[in-house]
Amino acid sequence: MGAKILVVGSINMDLVVRAQRFPVAGETLRGEGFKVVPGGKGSNQAVAASRLGGSVKMVGRVGADTFGPTLRKTLEDAGVDATEVKADPNAATGVAFIILDASGQNSIIIAQGANLSVRPEDLRTLEPLFEKSDVLLLQLEIPMESVEAAVKMAKEKDVKVVVDAGPPTPLSDELIKQIDVLSPNETEASALLGREVAATAQDAKKACKELLAKGAGSVVFKLGERGCMIATEKGTERLPSYIVDVVDTTGAGDAFTAALAVALGEGKDLKEASAFASAAGALAVTKFGAQPSMPSRADADKFLANPPKTRD
Ligand code: RIB
Repeated sequence: MGAKILVVGSINMDLVVRAQRFPVAGETLRGEGFKVVPGGKGSNQAVAASRLGGSVKMVGRVGADTFGPTLRKTLEDAGVDATEVKADPNAATGVAFIILDASGQNSIIIAQGANLSVRPEDLRTLEPLFEKSDVLLLQLEIPMESVEAAVKMAKEKDVKVVVDAGPPTPLSDELIKQIDVLSPNETEASALLGREVAATAQDAKKACKELLAKGAGSVVFKLGERGCMIATEKGTERLPSYIVDVVDTTGAGDAFTAALAVALGEGKDLKEASAFASAAGALAVTKFGAQPSMPSRADADKFLANPPKTRD
């Protein structure tokens, strides 16, 4: 059995349309290729962690509509234990409205819906789930008080806490101190630090040091095509990205953080885990959609056995 990963997070249906570019305010653009695809940062990471070899349980909420059962089934089909994915009869399932531009970059608006029904009091009834996990994997698309409650429970049980800092949300210093591995991109780091952080190695290094100073155990800063910056009290190091054909970047960060959690849960060190995460992220951008693009362990191992060139 692989690393035991507990995901407490969001579940969305992604409504995706392609366009040449993003619209500006007040503009109507012609798009094409509308698709409805399972997504949500929590659910994407649960699916990715399972495909990458983790033994995954997910806690989340869907709504009382047709999206709910479909999303639950997608999790189960990927091997995720979705027993604690419950339906809120009074809410709509979370949705994400995604525009993909011609270069595969995305722009996303989420309507959180039932994801806001993941409540701390419900989590407190799930102590045995935390107890049996190697890693708690979180994102920030559920209420902050639930993120805080989950982190507290994990720390009480000595479970490693990995937090994907998306979507951009400020975190209290008290919470940051309890996070073992914090993984933001540049927009998320900007929200965490309350100032503009660019996706450059120089800015990432500075931001990592500031987040370590705030008390994060370690930081893995996702830099997209510039790779990632890993930072611990021993120092910082940048790992390059792989050169691949980009089809759709949606969910690539989720593949990255899920792979990081799986590798850390298997006992790999932060550098090894980040290299594995980079491979998973690179594979994810080569396919359309969030969950359909999540790579399997076999895909990731094959990729790493014969990796493409890296970009410096
Ligand atoms: O990280 C990508 C995800 O962000 C999408 O699947 C969308 O649902 C939003 O949560």
